[in-house]
Amino acid sequence: MKCKFLLVLLFAGIFCCAAQQYGGAPRHDIVKLSLLWPNSYCLTNDHNCRPNVPQYFTIDGLWAEMNNGDKLENCETRYYMTNSMIDSHKVELLKYWPDLSTYNYQDSKQLWKNKWETDGTCCSYLMRPEDYLVSAMNLRQSHNMYQILTNAGGILANGSSYPATKILDAIRKATRFMVDIVCETDRVGNVYLSEIHQCLDNHAGAFVDCDNKAVNCDQDPIFPDALFAAAAKTNRKASPTYVTRLAAY
Ligand SMILES: *[C@@H]1O[C@H](CO)[C@@H](O)[C@H](O)[C@H]1NC(C)=O
Repeated sequence: MKCKFLLVLLFAGIFCCAAQQYGGAPRHDIVKLSLLWPNSYCLTNDHNCRPNVPQYFTIDGLWAEMNNGDKLENCETRYYMTNSMIDSHKVELLKYWPDLSTYNYQDSKQLWKNKWETDGTCCSYLMRPEDYLVSAMNLRQSHNMYQILTNAGGILANGSSYPATKILDAIRKATRFMVDIVCETDRVGNVYLSEIHQCLDNHAGAFVDCDNKAVNCDQDPIFPDALFAAAAKTNRKASPTYVTRLAAY
C-alpha cells in the first residue's frame, strides 16, 4: 500500500518535470546577465589572468534565477554546444566573452561549453546553445556600462573608490532599470567593483528591475584601471596607506 503510494508520487514527479522541461512555461522567474570588470576579476580570488585583459565590461554569464535568489544549474537538455556553433561567433566571443586566463581560442572553447551546460541549459526550454551565446552578447550590447559610469556618473576607472549607491544610481538613471553590483576583496583587504548584474524577464526578452543591491561592498569599492591593477598585483603587502599610495600612482 505504502509502496503504491510512493510509485504514484514518483510518476507524478516525472510527469511534472518533463512537462516543464519541454512544454510549459520556464521554471525560473528571471534571467540575469552578469558583466565583469576584468581588472577587478584578476586582482581577486586568485584568478590567473593573461597579461592584458580588456578595459571594458565583459560577459561573465547569463543564468536563470528564482525570485528568492536561487540560481538554477545543470538542467536537462537535448542540446550540446558544438565547436562549429562557437566558430561561427568566434570574433565576438573572443572580444565580449573572453576567457581571461588565456589568449588561446581552442582552450577558451571549454569556457563557453561549461557556461552552456551549467547556466544556459536552465535559461529557457526554448533556448538552444547558439541562441544562448547570441542572447548574452546582444544583451550586453544594449548598454555600454563603461560609458554610463564614466559619462553619466563621473565614475572613472582610475583606481579611486566610489560609494556603491552612486554606482547603482548612475546605472539606474541611464538604463531606467535597477541593477545589482557585486564587490570582491583582494588579499590585503581592498574592495573592488567586480560585477554588474542586469535582470531580465524569464524569456530574456526585456530588462526588468533587479534589487538595487550592492553585494559584499563593505567599503566603497575601487574601480581599478590597468595601471592600478598592475601596481596592486606587484605590491601585495598590507599597509594602511596602500590604497592612498596606489591612488596617487
Ligand atoms: C578619478 O576620477 C574622479 C572623478 O573624476 C576624481 O574625483 C578622482 O580624483 C580621480 N582619481 C585619481 C586617482 O585620479
